[in-house]
Amino acid sequence: MVSTKFLWGAASAAYQVEGAWQADGKGLSNWDLYTNVYRATETVTGKHETGNVAINAYDRAQYLQDIALMRELGINGYRFSLSWARILPDGVGRINEAGIAHYQQFVVDLLEAGIEPIVTLYHWDLPRALDDRGGWLNRESVGWFRNYASVVREALGAKVSKFITFNEPFIDLFLIEPMIENIKSGVGSPFAITDAQYGHQAVALHHWLVASAETIGDFRAAGYRGEIGMALPLMPTIPENPGKSEDIRAAALADAVINRWCLDALFKGRYPIEVMTLFRQLNPDFAPFEEDFAILAANKPDFLGVNFYAPAFVRQEDSAPLGYDWMNTNPDPEPAAFNGPVRPDYLRRLLERIRDEYDNPAIYITENGAGFGPTDEVLDGDTVHDPRRANYIRRHIEAALKAKENGVDLRGYMVWSLFDNFEWLHGYGRRFGLVHVDFDTQKRTPKRSFDTYRDIVANGGVAATG
Ligand code: BGC
Repeated sequence: MVSTKFLWGAASAAYQVEGAWQADGKGLSNWDLYTNVYRATETVTGKHETGNVAINAYDRAQYLQDIALMRELGINGYRFSLSWARILPDGVGRINEAGIAHYQQFVVDLLEAGIEPIVTLYHWDLPRALDDRGGWLNRESVGWFRNYASVVREALGAKVSKFITFNEPFIDLFLIEPMIENIKSGVGSPFAITDAQYGHQAVALHHWLVASAETIGDFRAAGYRGEIGMALPLMPTIPENPGKSEDIRAAALADAVINRWCLDALFKGRYPIEVMTLFRQLNPDFAPFEEDFAILAANKPDFLGVNFYAPAFVRQEDSAPLGYDWMNTNPDPEPAAFNGPVRPDYLRRLLERIRDEYDNPAIYITENGAGFGPTDEVLDGDTVHDPRRANYIRRHIEAALKAKENGVDLRGYMVWSLFDNFEWLHGYGRRFGLVHVDFDTQKRTPKRSFDTYRDIVANGGVAATG
């Protein structure tokens, strides 16, 4: 079942593309509430936007056209996530057969097009019913997730050869969820995240990691024949001022929290000592059981999903959470993309570091891409000129393949994203697609970066010059 071909793919997530927020017995998710009730994007961008329609990807007539574009692009893998609330409207208990049937059909349609489905179980949309019960802060969340994962395994496991348990713990739990909490409270800036919020989110992160490991164990015990892993947002941390000891210390701490915490959990079955010490101080309830570490150690993933957008230049900043800032820094002359400085060299270094420090695990790049503002996206008749994105993708693929040449066990690359879509708290204002989407008419228009990626895939990773 496990293919040895290099995987060239594209990635997406349910809430960002599906729409159909109340179709066919779907339950509500936390994001349905964040957008419709708390109007979360409005606080950040000034525009009230939701994923209620998104890019209409739930609609089979639409997604068959989208699959036709995937074929044109020449990719052999498509990563997407499932909406838990479509499958289990209340999070646990009653199964919604229509939701299951939808995903079974989508998987079959992909396979018929020669495209391998790569399924993410959780990309940030939690059934509302579970959110009401404390969400990921409740230890019972580990059992809720295992139950959901086993329903999915039974429904899709025979046809899906790669599962990803969770997407990007750090970004969701330490950035987006605290911002949502601030938006709900209506006090101050959504970006004013506190140490106390970090402290309580540590418990949620622990539950994700244990739930992921338990699920990996469950899949193996049930005889699942494919591969299962987790996708981490990894950001090499660089002292903004390399001559300043405060920045050096801040970058080391940021590295422990953002990168090493999850990497150590996945591949060494433990948490970095500085994380344990710091988070116990911030939250005395953060006290992982010894048995949990045994569960992590016994259930290592088959592969690591690396989501790489940018490194983080870190500066000491007393008013920022944990005393450092990494979000508003870019000392480079090259302008940053939406997710940070454009530094493909740090993708290579990151992959080589994982090779050296974590015993060379199998790696898929599960996300890499660039979101730019409107001036970088010039719609021109039947195409869109997006030279910065094309350039970004070409340089990052080159860097990744260089790392592969240097012995990194890199097995695939998935661009984020095939289509422009709903960019969470930034709504529809940030476009990451290789294909432009007119959000009013749903018209798809391939951008020039689509051609660039198509050529790279056709040449087995080698970019045409220019
Ligand atoms: C997330 C995606 C998001 C992308 C671009 C990642 O953090 O997994 O859902 O759209 O970055 O910001």
